[in-house]
Amino acid sequence: MKVINSAAEMAEYSKELQKNGYEVVLVPTMGFLHKGHLSLMQAAREHGEKVIVSIFVNPTQFGPNEDFDTYPRDMEKDLALCREMGVSAVFTPTKEELYPKNFQTYVELTTLPLHLCGLSRPTFFRGVATVVSKLFNIVRPNAAMFGEKDFQQLVVIRQMVKDMHMPVKIVGVPIVREEDGLAMSSRNAYLNEEERKNALLLSKSLKRAKEMVAQGEKSAEKILENAKGILLSCPDLRIDYISLCDPDTLDEINQISAPSLLAMAVFLGKTRLIDNTILGSNRPAL
Ligand code: PAJ
Repeated sequence: MKVINSAAEMAEYSKELQKNGYEVVLVPTMGFLHKGHLSLMQAAREHGEKVIVSIFVNPTQFGPNEDFDTYPRDMEKDLALCREMGVSAVFTPTKEELYPKNFQTYVELTTLPLHLCGLSRPTFFRGVATVVSKLFNIVRPNAAMFGEKDFQQLVVIRQMVKDMHMPVKIVGVPIVREEDGLAMSSRNAYLNEEERKNALLLSKSLKRAKEMVAQGEKSAEKILENAKGILLSCPDLRIDYISLCDPDTLDEINQISAPSLLAMAVFLGKTRLIDNTILGSNRPAL
């Protein structure tokens, strides 16, 4: 497995693979890899012969009061996991490599970031769209994998690729959960024992919403009230947002008449956790 720091070398390596007839699939990550990331790599292997993983904690998607400095990092372990997964190359650029002095070009979407996570993280999607564009331009992958855990991110990337005619296929991968239902996340490492227990309320509220819909409930208000009730049964939990919306436009809906996204972000102590599910579809229950 190759470990590459330089953008020029990464571009050359990927081009060479493609010249030799391989399909290249990119899995962008910020590292501290867990089973959610590994399932993206697994899905990537099913999609194309050569998998490239990027590991880069992207400063432009963190707000000034967010956790860029403390974001968990473990490069040795990450590289070992990538090796086990049969990854061909890991791209590990430095901050200076991707954002040299005088860097000044950003990619920004107009409407999708005005929903959900974009409301409390106003520069987040600009940072994500910018770094993902850069990674696409460097690696030029045939396909790229993104997790449904970050559903809005997946929608944003799909829209960006469509709007900018980027020749890359975007593949969404289902959420991987711990056995007790907690969606896997690098940020789960921040949770203390009490918070880890309370974090189960997210998946519990989503599961209950799925059950309500299965029993015929269609009112967004009733589903949201129920979910809020479950979340707020913990006095230490603060809701950032909870929304029932159209999974393509992210516009809020009143009634469930088609598959709809129930998405939430909460704070437990200083840790912000997100989770979501699709209601009104035949997907397996949580
Ligand atoms: P990161 O949070 O490291 O996540 C990398 C990818 O793994 C994302 O596509 C994310 O949706 C997916 N992922 C994380 N947890 C998952 C889970 N439990 N199940 C399924 N997929 C999961 O998302 C980012 O990094 C960054 O914003 C990035 C796209 C790399 C741009 O910097």
